[in-house]
Amino acid sequence: MIEVHQLTKRYARHTAVRDISFSVERGEIVGFLGPNGAGKTTTLRMLTGYLPPTSGSARIAGFDIFRQSIEARRKIGYMPENVPLYEDMRVREYLKFRAQLKGLDRSATRRRVGTVLETCGLESVRRKMIKTLSKGFRQRVGLADALVHDPELLILDEPTNGLDPNQIRQIRDLIRQLADSHTVLISTHILHEVEMTCGRVIIIDNGKIKATDTPANLTQQMRAAGRIQCEIHAPADAAASAIHDLEHVKKVAPETLDDGWTRLTVWVDSGTDARERIARLAAQHDWPLRALFRHVATLEDVFVELTRKD
Ligand SMILES: Nc1ncnc2c1ncn2[C@@H]1O[C@H](COP(=O)(O)OP(=O)(O)O)[C@@H](O)[C@H]1O
Ligand SMILES: [Mg+2]
Repeated sequence: MIEVHQLTKRYARHTAVRDISFSVERGEIVGFLGPNGAGKTTTLRMLTGYLPPTSGSARIAGFDIFRQSIEARRKIGYMPENVPLYEDMRVREYLKFRAQLKGLDRSATRRRVGTVLETCGLESVRRKMIKTLSKGFRQRVGLADALVHDPELLILDEPTNGLDPNQIRQIRDLIRQLADSHTVLISTHILHEVEMTCGRVIIIDNGKIKATDTPANLTQQMRAAGRIQCEIHAPADAAASAIHDLEHVKKVAPETLDDGWTRLTVWVDSGTDARERIARLAAQHDWPLRALFRHVATLEDVFVELTRKD
């Protein structure tokens, strides 16, 4: 449904997106995840034909986004980061206007506006002025706008940004419901969001793709890499160096706690475990040990690991 090939965008002196390639299959819900400034909006604006790339190409349902932009755009429902709504229009009137702008004839307009008002839970506010709506309802109007021409693909830029937890849940449920019959690419800087909604995640940072996988595989990968934490009553340097000498230990980071104990984070080779050997080492030195566990990686760890600025 989406094929991106070596897409690059340079602003005056800043490269916002560097040589990224990825694809999204029909029917997928893909999370486009990255910290603020990572290049998410820039990428989505290129995919939706609003921003010409510096180099590279993208196809939507087989149509080149620039050479066949009319056909490509017809396939896309785009909800931009800050939905530009006409404040002084009423909800239904606005959606009719948008439908006509997108080339729907009168009967299609009437039919589709009725459908999206219902789908997006906007019937009760259809006669209200947009400026009087809450942020949650405005987001729904943005979503209804994206859906009005009945596109196959939804591209949503941070759709839950600025909403309260209840509104977030409602928008998320709505997106999940839409995902039954649409392909969805949704950008966010909130991890939790993709874990709950997306079948696959593309992690972008500093304009580059850092990883693409299912949330489960990403955390699994991290888990296999292995990290152990222990708290031991011993001089930090001595404990760190003794543990570092153990087989399969790659790195040890000691930290002295307020109560005089030492906490050590221990990175080990993939598929190995050093807990038993650490316990034995502590016993040999007569170092009291009060905690020893394998760190269970979350998607957040993966994200932090991949987007860390060291
Ligand atoms: N019109 C622009 N001119 C210059 N730099 C820009 C422009 N738009 C975005 N940028 C820069 O490009 C980078 C990526 O921005 P953006 O795509 O908005 O990231 P995200 O949506 O992931 O937060 C940022 O460093 C941002 O400052
Ligand atoms: Mg953005």
